[in-house]
Order: sequence, then C-alpha cells, then structure tokens
Amino acid sequence: MVQVSAHAPGWLAPASWNLKLGVFFHAAEMWGPVVPWLVEFCAVAALFVSCLYALWGLNQPRLRLTRPLVGVGACIALGVCCSLGLRPLGLPVEYLPVGLVPLWIATSFGVGAGMIGLLGFGAVAGALGLAESFTVPVLGRGLLLLLLARGARRPSVTARAGLSAGGAYGALLCSVAWSASPAQERSVTQALNLLGETLGLGLAVGFSEFVSFWLTRGVAERVMGHVSRDRLVALLDLSHPLLKRMMERAPGSFEHSRAMANLAEQAASSIGADALLTRVGAYYHDLGKSVEPKFFIENLLQGETSAHQGLTPVESAEHIVRHVTEGVGILRDAGIPEPIVEFSYTHHGSQHVEYFLNQQQKLHPGCVIDRHPFAYPGMRPSTKETAILMLVDSIEAASRTIDSRDPAQIRQLVSRIVFSKLSSGQLDDSGLSAAELKILTERVVETLVYANHHRVKYPWQEESARRGGGPSAPVNTPHQEKQPVIFPRSIGVA
Ligand SMILES: [Fe+2]
Ligand SMILES: [Fe+2]
Repeated sequence: MVQVSAHAPGWLAPASWNLKLGVFFHAAEMWGPVVPWLVEFCAVAALFVSCLYALWGLNQPRLRLTRPLVGVGACIALGVCCSLGLRPLGLPVEYLPVGLVPLWIATSFGVGAGMIGLLGFGAVAGALGLAESFTVPVLGRGLLLLLLARGARRPSVTARAGLSAGGAYGALLCSVAWSASPAQERSVTQALNLLGETLGLGLAVGFSEFVSFWLTRGVAERVMGHVSRDRLVALLDLSHPLLKRMMERAPGSFEHSRAMANLAEQAASSIGADALLTRVGAYYHDLGKSVEPKFFIENLLQGETSAHQGLTPVESAEHIVRHVTEGVGILRDAGIPEPIVEFSYTHHGSQHVEYFLNQQQKLHPGCVIDRHPFAYPGMRPSTKETAILMLVDSIEAASRTIDSRDPAQIRQLVSRIVFSKLSSGQLDDSGLSAAELKILTERVVETLVYANHHRVKYPWQEESARRGGGPSAPVNTPHQEKQPVIFPRSIGVA
C-alpha cells in the first residue's frame, strides 16, 4: 500500500483517492529537484519548435520537406552549441558571429527564413543563458547583414555586407559609449579613440563573419539539403558523364531538355525563383529516357518505325512511365543532389499518359478502364522550381506543334496548359500564386515568340527556289524538317 505523502492537503483525504494521490505526491518528492531543469528544457524545446514551425509556415515549399527543415534545425542547434562552447573562453559577447547561422539559412531559403532563423537562434541561445549576448544591437547587426548580403551569392557582396553591418554596429557602440561618458571627460581625442576602438571591433566582427561564412558554407548547405551555385554550374558542363550519356543515347530528348532549360530559366527568373536550379533540373529531368530512347518520338529518325508498334496501350504506357523511375535511379546512383533528382520524379506529377489511356478507351468502348497502368509513378511538384519545369515540359512539347509566331495564339496555348495543370490540382503544393502564374506565363509567351523568329532568306536560297530545286523551305523554319508524326507530340516528351 502506497502511503499518502505528508504534503497532501487535508481536503484531498477521501479514501477512494488516497492511492492515486499518494503515487502523485510521492513522485513529486522524488522528482522535485529535476522540475526546474525540466521546465527549462521544455521552454527551450518550445522555442526551438516554434522557430521550426514558423519556418515551415513560410511561403517556401522546400522548407515543408523533412530533410531541409531538420537540416535548418541542426544548423541552429550547432550555432547555439558553438556559442555556449565559446563562453568559457571569456570572449566578449560582441565577438559572437550571430549572423553566421541566419546567413546560412538565408542563402538556401531566402532572407525571410534567415530572419526567422536569427530570431530563433537568439531566443534559444538566450533561454540557455546567453541572453546578455543577444542584445538588440547584436541582433540588429545580424539583421543588417542578412539584408545587405542579398542571398550571399557573391563573396564581394558578402564581404561588403559584413563590413557595413560591422561598421554600423561599431558606430552604434561608439555613440552609446560617448553618451554614457561623463560630460567633463569628453574631448576630441577621446572621441577619436573611442571611434577607432569601436569601429575596429565592428569591422573585425564583420570580417570574421564573412570569412567564417565562406569557410563553412559548403558543409552547412549540405546539411540543409541545398545545392551550392558552384555545384549547379558544374552540373551544366556538357562533358558531365550523365549529359554525355543523354546526348549519345537519346539526342532528341536532350535537345528537348535544352530547349526547355531556356524557357524554364526565363520563367523562374521572372518570379524570383531559383533560375539556375531550374535550368539544371531541366537538363536532367528526362535522363530516364536514355534507357529506352526509341519509345519516345523525339529520338526517332525520319521514317523510323516506333518501338510502340505492335504493343497494347497498357504495354506502351508501361514503357513510357518507366522513364521517371529509371531516371531517378540513375541520378541517385550517380550521387546527384536530391533537389535535382526531385525534378525527375515530379515533372509529370500524378498525371496519366493521356494518349494511351484514350487508346485503351477506344479499344474497350463502354468499359470501365483501369487507370492505374497509365499513371506516372511520381509526386506533384512541391516547389516553385519543379512546378515551373512541369509547366514548361508540356509547353515546350506543345509549342512544337504550331509554327505560328502570333503572340495571341501562343498565349492561348500556354494559358490552356497552365489552366489544365491548375485545374487538375498538379500545382496545389507548389506555392505558386495566381499572380506568379500570370507573370511567368507572359514571360514564356514572350520567349517563345522571339525563339521562333524568322530571318531573311539568303540569295542562293531564293535562287534555288526560283529554279525549283534545292531547299525550297527557308532554313529558318526548322519544324518543316521534322519526321512525320507517328504519335502525337504530347507523348513524345512523356
Ligand atoms: Fe520532358
Ligand atoms: Fe518526362
């Protein structure tokens, strides 16, 4: 029988409650010393989770994925641990590189995410006993650094931002120290000494933040699942083994990817999305087609028989949808970063191979068709960049079916594709707003209009045409050179 603790109030004496309350008060006596620690732990955990929740709720779809969000949390925790570790060294609080972790986050996920990271970092570190380190001027220096660094894409910009924020911080410290000094002790010499001291301190902190950022950036980006600009540029090199494989085995698909890359990059830059990442994603999205290239019309030579000849619609669809899983497998085996692999498994979303689905319905009129074999084994795009690629994939394919340069006709085509993706729910998780869709539609239309521009014929072409021999068509109408359509263009880029 458990005894009721002596601390139990008398009004809680009823016999039926004795056992339960006895256990409770016994536990309270045992765990009493632990409670303050537990409360502190819960408070820190609540601050940490609130910070991650704020990041999750930001209009940044990538932060809704587990890997990047956990990576950001790990970076904040690492920053807090390092700050705590520096404390016993007796370094002045002004030396803490508070802008470092937020700058890591801002580089990968934008300035808004960086600001939330800065506040979360300060709140967690403050709750763990570093409150005096994260004063308003220190946090202000971190904020100014974030705003001036503008995504920290170039070292020169980051260096300028670090020195400017550090200089502003030094000037602030100087004015505070000057106003706190006794009026009778103020002199020009003292003012100059104070200014030199505080400005030197501010500039040294700003410079150390810049250096430590560029030294640690690669590791931090890897932890947060972000791909660095250098890596992206390296992946665009046409001598990359995967691109060479695509060029050799599926040249038509590679040309489709390159044409798409231009459109997708333009569309992404028009709404402030990551244009370089989108371009790289376009280069690699259809890599799976290099496994069975002849099942895709763009890889057939003029007059060549399609590999779909003699297959049922279900069999044909199996070959078409397979390029998604094949591509993902090849990319992951080659160690391509996950944000680029994502383009491969989202570029068809959860759509169906419409052409072969229609064929199946024609073969079995009046029957309920099993749509499962015709479904792409992918996911809907969860970022703006992958959603742009999905749209441009269809737009590029459809644009090859018209020779017109009429902006109205091209706009109608593009709008139709955008609306169909929107109404089928493929863009629901992408974070693209209606305003952004409108802007990128206009940019894509403009790009397509000018991409199909005509040139004046050369004299020898006119001469040849007059004689009725040679190339009667101008060299500037490439679509007339294409092979006869065996299947609609739309399945050629499936
Ligand atoms: Fe494609
Ligand atoms: Fe595809």
